[in-house]
Amino acid sequence: MNTSADTPDPSADDETIVVRGNGPLSGTVVVPGAKNSVLKLMATTILCDGAHELTNVPDIVDVAIMGDLLAAIGVEMTRPETGKVVLFNTGEIIPVAPYELVERIRASINVLGPLLTRCGEVKLSMPGGDDFGARPIDMHIAGLEAMGAEFKFSHGYLEARADRLHGAAITLDFPSVGATENLMTAAVLADGVTTIDNCAREPEISDLCEFLVTMGADIDGIGSPTLRIEGVQQRDLRPVSHRTCPDRIQAATYLAACSVAGGELDVIGARGDQMMMLLDRFGEMGLDLTVTDAGIHVVADERARSIDIATLPYPGIATDYKPLIITMLAVADGVGIVTENLYPGRFRYVEELQRLGADVRTSGHHAVIRGVPRLSGAPVKAHDIRAGAAMVVAGLAAEGETRITGIHHIDRGYDDLVGRLQGVGALIERS
Ligand code: EPU
Repeated sequence: MNTSADTPDPSADDETIVVRGNGPLSGTVVVPGAKNSVLKLMATTILCDGAHELTNVPDIVDVAIMGDLLAAIGVEMTRPETGKVVLFNTGEIIPVAPYELVERIRASINVLGPLLTRCGEVKLSMPGGDDFGARPIDMHIAGLEAMGAEFKFSHGYLEARADRLHGAAITLDFPSVGATENLMTAAVLADGVTTIDNCAREPEISDLCEFLVTMGADIDGIGSPTLRIEGVQQRDLRPVSHRTCPDRIQAATYLAACSVAGGELDVIGARGDQMMMLLDRFGEMGLDLTVTDAGIHVVADERARSIDIATLPYPGIATDYKPLIITMLAVADGVGIVTENLYPGRFRYVEELQRLGADVRTSGHHAVIRGVPRLSGAPVKAHDIRAGAAMVVAGLAAEGETRITGIHHIDRGYDDLVGRLQGVGALIERS
């Protein structure tokens, strides 16, 4: 695994993952911390000087890239042991996020709120889109403007200024995860009270709120659609030790793997209470699921049944689960319709599934999946993190060999997916 974004990625495009469907899985798999939480926790250490400690940190490339971005800004990351990082905020913060690092991960946008509120200015390379479509930041900008920031764009950079941000009553058009996070972190050091209505309430947002409260922020409404943040002074903040919440998308990946391969798994560390709607739907598909204090126990002893599913912001079914769900439906009994409500372009991996013999048709926001008994192994490509994981799961449902290229995408968000699946009996390797 890479530890620095400066190092060329050895997995880049010559390494592949090879999977051979070989029947039921069995055993225990431990779920690591959530990518979409830890990257935001890391960015938020910009707010407060001193040494912050994060545990349950996944060993993924995006953490290394965020570490490099923060080092350029003035927060130095070290890894004293597996699963732990220390972020030392030197107090000498440079409010500039350069193109070479910003373009590598979407979560680099999360330095915007902390840098602006702390430094009164920020210069950030505009984040690009993704393979599944454009990813605008108009809600981030409108919210920060309501708090007194002035923006200008030049030469691919977004520049913002505000001597001191002030509180504002903000209603988001859509519960955007990134906009909620940037506005919330900016509000921590703003003058007065900020309310963010129709905010996102994903578990990773609550994790960030709890991190900020431990840091000394004054936040009410955690986990609800309205957050109320009363600004504090920077001297009131203190460095934090925090355990990253578990990755519900990785947890769902192991449930999906069990669904298509059959078998029985203990998915340890998964928070069933943060995945309730998904677990209900998986139950309708025929998975036998038990939520325990330790995680989720799953038994798949029959072919899954098809159902219809639509993606929605939390507590709805996350868009990031969708490639896994479509893969499960590809070998389920019957016809299922999946509706995508967040990223209309997020269906590109369907062409790869078709190469494995899946019967999937897409039209606009919808995919119609007619289940076939088994897929047939073939070379396929990972187009993004979640699509890449879905290809691995599809390989478990396929006869013969499935060889996946583009696996640097998987390494961005999955901590040892191959080793974890080997541990429960899958025939899978990197080569
Ligand atoms: N949107 C706007 N304007 C904005 C912000 C968002 O139109 O200013 C739209 C987006 O285009 C999209 C929708 O609102 O249609 C939701 O976007 P959101 O801001 O909620 O997403 P994000 O913060 O950019 C995070 C995750 C994604 C995940 C989405 C939705 C991170 C780093 N990324 O993105 O995760 O799909 O929330 O849950 O947290 C992944 O991990 O592979 C991934 C893509």
